Amino acid sequence: MSSNVTGQHTPTALIVGASRGLGHAMAAEFLDRGWNVIGTVRDASVRTPLHDLADRAEGRVIIEHLDINEPDHLAPLHERLAERRLDLLFVNAGTTNSEQIPIGKVATDDFVEVMITNALSPMRVIEALEDLVSAPDLRVVLGHWGEMLLFWLDRVESLSRIAGLERSVSDYVRSNFHITTSGMLNPALLRHALSVTSVDRLIFSTDYPFQRPTREEIDSFLNHFSTDAEREQFSSANAASLYGIDFSAKP
Ligand SMILES: NC(=O)c1ccc[n+]([C@@H]2O[C@H](COP(=O)([O-])OP(=O)(O)OC[C@H]3O[C@@H](n4cnc5c(N)ncnc54)[C@H](OP(=O)(O)O)[C@@H]3O)[C@@H](O)[C@H]2O)c1
Repeated sequence: MSSNVTGQHTPTALIVGASRGLGHAMAAEFLDRGWNVIGTVRDASVRTPLHDLADRAEGRVIIEHLDINEPDHLAPLHERLAERRLDLLFVNAGTTNSEQIPIGKVATDDFVEVMITNALSPMRVIEALEDLVSAPDLRVVLGHWGEMLLFWLDRVESLSRIAGLERSVSDYVRSNFHITTSGMLNPALLRHALSVTSVDRLIFSTDYPFQRPTREEIDSFLNHFSTDAEREQFSSANAASLYGIDFSAKP
């Protein structure tokens, strides 16, 4: 565990896939907010923007090597990090087929590569490293209105006991999960979300560049909340509280 000069705990984020893009941007933001960062890069022999960040961060960035599609990398990484206490594990690593090709023309190997990288490997990473994360107040943020979980809750609920969970999945969803909209501003999805969780768990988000709602669409969606207080929670207050953001401090 690390602490700053005043003896306060300095939180540490492990960001998987931090060499560039969103992972690198998050690493920079966490540093700005006083966190320490452990960021992973896929190719240990390549210099990345994360290395530049580490050079400026006076020892507050540790760079680790991990290809999430290589399960053999996980146990050694776990061993190297075993003495550390992590406050956040964020699996940002992902890939996409940038070319606009119809699904029928996508090569099977390319499709499998995307599915392994974006679906299977992140779960392997979480399973292998989750015990390094302090979790008394575990907070999980799901995009796309819960990535189907909210609609599958009855089914998942029946697996709570088999999975050996202390509480039911719906209980965890209500108390430990936040749900973001990822730009899908459909009032039917809002009604369903509010039937399984509460308004203090919902966060407005877009999914740039895929979902880019207009000002009019956002205003129209906000009309589906009952009160101004709820609109405020959804639009900014819930995110501010979850991420410790002071919206008055930054434009
Ligand atoms: N940017 C957006 O607005 C946006 C929106 C919606 C969804 N997404 C998705 O979110 C993910 C991250 O976005 P991004 O903008 O940060 O993408 P990015 O700029 O392409 O960066 C991808 C990151 O993932 C790493 N990575 C890829 N495959 C990996 C593997 N097998 N093992 C370890 N690391 C791996 C890359 O490492 P290397 O440098 O070694 O390649 C890089 O650090 C992507 O899946 C993207 O499709 C992004």
